[in-house]
Amino acid sequence: MLSKAPRRIYFDNAATTKMDPRVGRILCDQMEHNFGNPASMHWFGQKSAAALAVARRSLADFFYCQPEELVFTSGATEANNLALKGLMGAFDKTTHFITSAIEHPSVSMTASALQRQGHELTVVRPDKQGVVSADSLLATVTDKTRLISLMYVNNETGVIQPVQEVGKKLEILNEERLRNKRPKIFLHVDAVQALNFLNCRPDHLHADLITFSAHKIHGPKGIGLLYVRDKTDLNKHIDGGTQERGRRAGTVNTAAAMAMAEAVKIINTSQTIFNEHLEKCRRQLDESLKKIKNIHFYSNPDKCVPAIMNFYIDGLSGEDLMIKLDLHGIAVSTGAACAAGAMQPSKTLLAMGYDEREVHGSIRLSLSRYTSLAEIKKFTQVINKIVNG
Ligand SMILES: Cc1ncc(COP(=O)(O)O)c(C=O)c1O
Repeated sequence: MLSKAPRRIYFDNAATTKMDPRVGRILCDQMEHNFGNPASMHWFGQKSAAALAVARRSLADFFYCQPEELVFTSGATEANNLALKGLMGAFDKTTHFITSAIEHPSVSMTASALQRQGHELTVVRPDKQGVVSADSLLATVTDKTRLISLMYVNNETGVIQPVQEVGKKLEILNEERLRNKRPKIFLHVDAVQALNFLNCRPDHLHADLITFSAHKIHGPKGIGLLYVRDKTDLNKHIDGGTQERGRRAGTVNTAAAMAMAEAVKIINTSQTIFNEHLEKCRRQLDESLKKIKNIHFYSNPDKCVPAIMNFYIDGLSGEDLMIKLDLHGIAVSTGAACAAGAMQPSKTLLAMGYDEREVHGSIRLSLSRYTSLAEIKKFTQVINKIVNG
């Protein structure tokens, strides 16, 4: 007789989220009934263009910005590439820019590519808690600096970065630079892991460019958004048509844009309820995990969004623990990534000052609004069983 499959628990929401059924219904309906190319002049095209305009307007209302300031992309990886390459590409080849050592590869690898082209790059390290301080970033500004790129919430630790403080201080510095006839320094924020939980409005963050991704907010994969403050010049990074006001060539995925707008609308109406629920889940998780002998948390929960936590247990490899949890029907992730057949330790955790042994034990849990207290209880029972043998 076949044994009963375990009821699966998904604690890997920083990797991707389950689509909200309300979002899924819009996506399917649009794909089936509104398939025209929004650039076409006929009825089908114009119907699609109208839907795209509705999606853009709805997102602009949420972000308190102009619809023209939003560029649809294929996801956050492309939005980060467009932000960094688009902005730096518009400047002199030796222009300086600053980023942090805890950025997602779509920022850090793009930054390295720009450095190879001749741009000067400074990478600022976080403290042991995973925070990149505003002052440590601003201390590296030179006369040639034109961009600072800092993520809002780290995808591995959940630590909230002081982007608003950087934005406010940069505004003061930019006023002084303007008086001295020096060019402005722009702020780019990768807010992919923040949008579910925090205020990401450009005027709140004092940011010029902000990256978002729909599949991290219970929307579909294959659609992202770059906010570009009015009068910010961006070079194209893909050649082709003139879509998105010439800033991003390629037919826009209207159905996915409509779906992303719905996902954001749901956040707008229910964020407080979702956050309260997540805080409750997190409190229960913290209480239970703290009882495990030799467990270490990489960051202080007070500095994190409640949905993401990262820890290691002495003597256990993250990969082993992840596989054992998976065999019990629980999906989590490790801080180590498999590259060329070998496990590579997390650059973020290493930059925070942890040694390779500590980093190899890393387990990331990322919850969502669909996480239940019963799932937390089940997870606690399973991990205790694994740890105690
Ligand atoms: C902080 C951050 N930035 C960017 C990305 C890339 O997002 P996408 O999958 O939409 O390209 C991710 C995905 O994990 C992320 O966590």
